[in-house]
Amino acid sequence: MRKLAAGNWKMNGVEADLAEVDALVSAHRTPRCEMLLCPPATLISRMAARATGDLFIGAQDCHAQASGAHTGDISAAMLVDAGATHVILGHSERRADHGETDAEVRAKAEAALAAGLVAIVCVGETEAQRDAGQTLEVIGGQLAGSVPEAATARTTVIAYEPVWAIGTGRTPTLEEIAEVHAFLRAGLAKRFGDAEGFRLLYGGSVKPSNAGEIFAVANVDGALVGGASLKAADFGAIVEAL
Ligand code: G3P
Repeated sequence: MRKLAAGNWKMNGVEADLAEVDALVSAHRTPRCEMLLCPPATLISRMAARATGDLFIGAQDCHAQASGAHTGDISAAMLVDAGATHVILGHSERRADHGETDAEVRAKAEAALAAGLVAIVCVGETEAQRDAGQTLEVIGGQLAGSVPEAATARTTVIAYEPVWAIGTGRTPTLEEIAEVHAFLRAGLAKRFGDAEGFRLLYGGSVKPSNAGEIFAVANVDGALVGGASLKAADFGAIVEAL
């Protein structure tokens, strides 16, 4: 399976930052992995217009409904119309800031798949949950609750992002990442039969200096990168590590 280096720009980026996209594209014309950048919705179409080759453009959220009276929201079909091919769903920041539940994330993922987007469904434990020994139980619940029945390896990616590792410079041990990724693979296999083709991304303080060792962990098929995806040099170094 070809690995995936995905960047989540979160609430960062304006027109001037599109120069980073040009730099990334020109420095990585034939990367070994696929590249994906998920900017704020305001930049999707402009970024998509500059993306070539193996750089795909995605969004950070979508609404579960196709249209209607939902002020401020954006439907999956609108994201496709803007040039997106992927959408991140159930990121812990949305679960925390907007109270998104597993059922809501699942409904959004169903809408994304129906619109032809690849859904990147995020799961991950808080530090308190890890300290309490609940990591696998929490992730198992999120996986079961957030991933739709219609998911396939081609249309759905799972991102493991421990909440306590996001933006903190802290990461789980390689053994801990391996344990969760093996658990995710087994959970998908149990539910969908064959799970080998599902991409499993690790996210949380991935940077050029730790990308190589994280990508060597079994069942890690790529990364979901936050801060280090904002600059072409950093993200490019992570792309090279895949
Ligand atoms: O979605 C990616 C993200 O939550 C990880 O952020 O800044 O720790 O790489 P960061």
